Amino acid sequence: MRSTKLFSLLPFVHLAMAQKNWTFVQQGNSGIIPLELITLSPTLALMYDRPYTNPLKLPNGESAWAGLWHFDTNMATPLETVTNTFCAGGAFISNGTLVAIGGQPLDDIPGWGNATDGTMGIRLFGPCTSADGTGPGCTVFEDPANMHLVVTRWYPTAVRIPDGSLFIMGGSDLLTTFNGADIAQNNYEFYPPRAGEVGQVRKSKFLEDTLPANLFPRSIVLPSGHVLMMANNQSVIYDIETDTELMRLPELPNGVRIGVPFDGFAQLLPLSPPLYEPTVLACGGSNKPDTITLDEMSIQDTATTQCQRMTLTPAGIAAGWEIEQLPDARVMPETVILPSGDVVILNGAHSGQVARYSGYPSVGDSADTGSNAANPAQRGIMYKTTLPSGQRITQDGLPTSPIPRMYHSAATLTGKGNIMVAASNPHPFVLTADNNPNNESFPSEYRVEYLNPDFITNGSPRPVISKSPSQLAFNAQGTITVTIPTSLASGELQVSLIDMGFITHAWHAGSRLVFLEHTLSGNTLTITTPPNGNIYPPGPAWIYVVADGVWSEGVQIMIGDGGNPPRPAQGVSVSITSV
Ligand SMILES: *[C@@H]1O[C@H](CO)[C@@H](O)[C@H](O)[C@H]1NC(C)=O
Ligand SMILES: *[C@@H]1O[C@H](CO)[C@@H](O)[C@H](O)[C@H]1NC(C)=O
Ligand SMILES: *[C@@H]1O[C@H](CO)[C@@H](O)[C@H](O)[C@H]1NC(C)=O
Ligand SMILES: *[C@@H]1O[C@H](CO)[C@@H](O)[C@H](O)[C@H]1NC(C)=O
Ligand SMILES: *[C@@H]1O[C@H](CO)[C@@H](O)[C@H](O)[C@H]1NC(C)=O
Repeated sequence: MRSTKLFSLLPFVHLAMAQKNWTFVQQGNSGIIPLELITLSPTLALMYDRPYTNPLKLPNGESAWAGLWHFDTNMATPLETVTNTFCAGGAFISNGTLVAIGGQPLDDIPGWGNATDGTMGIRLFGPCTSADGTGPGCTVFEDPANMHLVVTRWYPTAVRIPDGSLFIMGGSDLLTTFNGADIAQNNYEFYPPRAGEVGQVRKSKFLEDTLPANLFPRSIVLPSGHVLMMANNQSVIYDIETDTELMRLPELPNGVRIGVPFDGFAQLLPLSPPLYEPTVLACGGSNKPDTITLDEMSIQDTATTQCQRMTLTPAGIAAGWEIEQLPDARVMPETVILPSGDVVILNGAHSGQVARYSGYPSVGDSADTGSNAANPAQRGIMYKTTLPSGQRITQDGLPTSPIPRMYHSAATLTGKGNIMVAASNPHPFVLTADNNPNNESFPSEYRVEYLNPDFITNGSPRPVISKSPSQLAFNAQGTITVTIPTSLASGELQVSLIDMGFITHAWHAGSRLVFLEHTLSGNTLTITTPPNGNIYPPGPAWIYVVADGVWSEGVQIMIGDGGNPPRPAQGVSVSITSV
């Protein structure tokens, strides 16, 4: 990792960094179950749910299934929506608009609101520039008759690619535990559609080969501009421009599978100049065969503890998957990448190997709990990315939440620099704790928590960004005015550029951290943006300054020209090792 010491006279005075003690605090109720959660600004997050009987009401008195979360007041306000947003994917595009795609078929249930079929849905939101979420850009724009996907997609993935548009992949026509050849959308499309491909999809051999566990494919844009896709126990490097599979990676070791419904995560670890070598970390999920029947499974079947990581360069691929073990087994774990480059793993459960689609209990003994998973994982895990193997994984300093966060839960980094943790609902309806006639486990969860690092809990000194550019081109320099507390000034200084991702179903699509080259002179921090859109696809980002492991609040920045996609190549090409 590229870093500078502030006082070069003290090059090795990096005393054992104080153990960070994190704390959970409960603050407010989300009003809907935000199983899709996207941080929009320092004051707002967008939440999407399913149209059922939620406490958050639209002005007409009907239940809302979309809303804004207000970080300043810890309250939710409703958003009008047309289509059923349940189980959608999405990402920001190059002009700063958040696009949610796909979703659920019609939920034609009286009292549940009037959502239309969302499986071909395209929903645009923002940029919403007001702090309180009112005014232009702060509404969901939909026009289902004229603006929709080419095919129906339930459980699809979308990621922003180097031209600033969305690469959309996979999903299913219908609700299912395992995807099937008869219902699978084993294909790709783009938003906006590519020239010459309007109304068309591209067939995907990879998705065909990864049935029946290829829903919400874990997909990451690499610094080469190629896309890594992971599903079931397989991974491919795909070239968007030539529509070619460049290579398959070795299968995940020891029978482990991460594709939905087996539910392990994949996370791109931080990219650092000058080589931006990409390493993917995948953890949790299942070690059952994908031919197992639901009757053969139990919600008590322990998930896997296995993590595997690989650096996606020729040398890294030749070295194979490097295996590590979590302290306990996890299914539906999610990852929040911190400004320091470490990764917090939280939410999900210890058992239930087909945790997905647990809204309709399908595993043999799932009627016992009304969920396909059991034994909630209520304590987080810290993955320290730069430490040597064997020392990276720890639970020291991480608290246990009183709240199980099972299927349909979410967690996201915020502008304040803490983690918002919300939602959970393994039931096909709202089951509140005080209205649970069958005593089913894991009631629907509206309570919001924040997981705070100790410097937020204690209010101890942090770096403060007082001025920063709102937009920078690629391969450009900009200046940030920053105050580093003297107590942190002898430690490592890092500047992180972060995409927090579109969070749903324990999958943080698009989540990315690029460390920026920087020099500090007095209070002026000069940063250099990534060389091109392969390293950071053009679009909105957050910048945090981290001194001795303590980060500032984030500031928002547009990277690139901010135009509508697709954008022509911006910046400069650099010599890199990424496949
Ligand atoms: C963190 O918690 C541990 C155990 O509760 C305590 O010993 C330690 O002093 C705490 N560290 C900090 C920095 O507060
Ligand atoms: C929802 O649909 C019902 C039945 O079709 C209708 O009576 C009601 O007015 C609709 N509500 C809205 C807000 O459109
Ligand atoms: C990957 O999954 C396939 C299909 O279920 C299976 O045949 C193969 O043995 C698995 N690979 C490993 C390394 O477990
Ligand atoms: C409800 O289930 C819990 C275990 O999940 C059990 O401890 C409790 O006794 C049950 N309550 C009733 C009223 O059945
Ligand atoms: C962003 O680009 C999309 C796709 O071209 C377009 O539909 C949308 O209106 C744009 N948003 C803004 C705010 O211009």
